[in-house]
Amino acid sequence: MNSGILEVSGLEKHFGGVYVTCNVNFSMQEGEQSAIIGPNGAGKSTFMNLLTGYHRPDAGKVVFAGRDITGMPPHRVVRCGISRAFQVSSIFGRMTVGDNVRAAVQAQMRVTFRLFASARRLGAEETERVLALCGLLAKRDLMAGELAQGDKKRLELAIALAGRPRLLFLDEPTAGMSIEEARSTMELVDRLNRELKLTVLFTEHDMGIVFNHARRLTLLHRGAIVVQGTPEEVRANATAQKVYLGEHHL
Ligand SMILES: Nc1ncnc2c1ncn2[C@@H]1O[C@H](COP(=O)(O)OP(=O)(O)OP(=O)(O)O)[C@@H](O)[C@H]1O
Ligand SMILES: [Mg+2]
Repeated sequence: MNSGILEVSGLEKHFGGVYVTCNVNFSMQEGEQSAIIGPNGAGKSTFMNLLTGYHRPDAGKVVFAGRDITGMPPHRVVRCGISRAFQVSSIFGRMTVGDNVRAAVQAQMRVTFRLFASARRLGAEETERVLALCGLLAKRDLMAGELAQGDKKRLELAIALAGRPRLLFLDEPTAGMSIEEARSTMELVDRLNRELKLTVLFTEHDMGIVFNHARRLTLLHRGAIVVQGTPEEVRANATAQKVYLGEHHL
């Protein structure tokens, strides 16, 4: 059997007795780009938090690349090859774009750059590579806090790529953006998926973006999966229409 890069089974989480993740079974194949959709409060961010170590599941199992990562803290999850960009920005506004990426690269390399010239050179090369991938070379000396929303997201993606992840989670990557910025951000995500063979899972409320950029959808409602499938399958599903898609006229 072809086992996936990510296998989630029986995942559960409650906060004070209220279940926000209910028996979720979910898997991804290496290289796929998929979306989690669902109404506000459905449990999308919580699901990503459970998979990246920010919350501990109450039950269930998370296996990534054949390794059981259930309950691992975030810094260890990252070292296994899972990275994420947050719903709320995590960049240092008073540092330059280049320094933000350099700091992320150094954190991943776990060496003291002042001591090892070769490590410093490698770090500089890696910083350059990641900046170029995300189209930020020309903006490397700008203060991160002064970037437009679209470029901030590019920088967050660059930071997330610093550890060379195999799986990337993006929580509402286009939130607060103009249509043009959202388009350009999702083009970059598509390119990272295509060129780096990066497996990508994103959440998104704009159904136009979801249907254009995800090959598979999972609809969450009150912490449980309502339907999973191709965009066409989900669009045709009566329950999906009722609990979510109907409001978006799809
Ligand atoms: N740390 C927490 N303590 C208590 N309840 C929480 C906590 N985190 C999330 N919740 C609750 O869990 C439910 C799911 O929240 P979550 O943020 O995962 O939803 P979401 O699908 O990401 O929503 P949105 O689309 O608005 O981002 C909500 O009812 C929320 O209030
Ligand atoms: Mg959320």
